[in-house]
Amino acid sequence: MEYLDGGRSNKIARIDGAVHRPAGAWTPHIHTFLKHIRSVGFTGAPEPIGFDATGNEIVSYISGEVSNYPLSAAATSIHTLISAAELLRAYHDATVSFIPELQGNESWLLPVREPVEVICHGDYAPYNVVLDGDRAIAIIDFDTAHPGPRAWDIAYALYRWSPLTSPNNADGFGDETEKTERCRLFCDIYGLSKEGRVGLISLVVERLRYLVAYMQSEAKAGNEAFQANIADGHHLMYLADIDYLKTNCKSIQAAL
Ligand SMILES: Nc1ncnc2c1ncn2[C@@H]1O[C@H](COP(=O)(O)OP(=O)(O)O)[C@@H](O)[C@H]1O
Ligand SMILES: [Mg+2]
Repeated sequence: MEYLDGGRSNKIARIDGAVHRPAGAWTPHIHTFLKHIRSVGFTGAPEPIGFDATGNEIVSYISGEVSNYPLSAAATSIHTLISAAELLRAYHDATVSFIPELQGNESWLLPVREPVEVICHGDYAPYNVVLDGDRAIAIIDFDTAHPGPRAWDIAYALYRWSPLTSPNNADGFGDETEKTERCRLFCDIYGLSKEGRVGLISLVVERLRYLVAYMQSEAKAGNEAFQANIADGHHLMYLADIDYLKTNCKSIQAAL
C-alpha cells in the first residue's frame, strides 16, 4: 500500500493497482456516472470498482504523473495545455447523454447550476489531471462533479490552466500576454464559440467568488480542512486574484 496524498492526510491510498479514497453521499451516483461515460467511449477517467470494508470508494489507478503546486515543467507546457483543453471537451461531450438519466434528486457536493448542459468536473486543474509526458490523458477526483453549463467548468479551468492569477500568486506563471494567449488557445482547442466566450472572464471572477463563499460557509459549518485553509490565508489569495482579474478583465476578455 502507498499513500497518494503526500502524507497530507493519509486518506487516499493505492492498494493493488486501485485507489481507495473517502466517499460521500454523492459517491454512488458518481460511480454510475463514471460507468456511463465509459459506456459511451470516454476512457480518460478512473473506472469505478466499488467500496471497501471501511466505506472508502475504490477506483482504478491511472499510471502517469499528477503535478501539484509548484507545477512541473510538463504541467505548464503548451502541449499539456492543448491536450487538457481537448480532454475537457471530450469529457463534457461524453457527459451529455447522462443528463436525461438524472432524476433531479441526486445529492452532489456542489449545487446544480443552470442551465444544465453537461456534468461539470468542478475542479478541472493540473492537480486533477494525469499526464503522460506533456499530454493530458485522464481526469481524476470527481467529488466536485455536478450538473451545470460548460462555461462554468471552462471558467475555472482557465483560472487554473492559463493561469488567471495575480502576479503575486506564487502558483502562477507567465506575464499577462502569455496568460491571455493560453486562455485563447484553451478556448480555441475546446471549440468554444464566439457567443460562448462572451462574459467568460467575468464568469471566472464569479466562480472564484463562489469558491471563497463556499470555503467560508464550509469552515463555519465545522469543516476542519477549510478552517485550516482560511487560517493559512488561502482565501486572501483568491481575493487578490479576483482584484487582479477585475482590473485586467477588459483586456483579457477583448483578446478572447
Ligand atoms: N485514479 C487515480 N489514478 C492515479 N492517481 C490518483 C488517482 N486518484 C488519486 N490519485 C493520486 O492521488 C492524489 C490525490 O488524489 P485526489 O483524488 O485528487 O484527492 P484530493 O485532491 O482530495 O487529495 C492525486 O494528486 C494523484 O496523485
Ligand atoms: Mg485532487
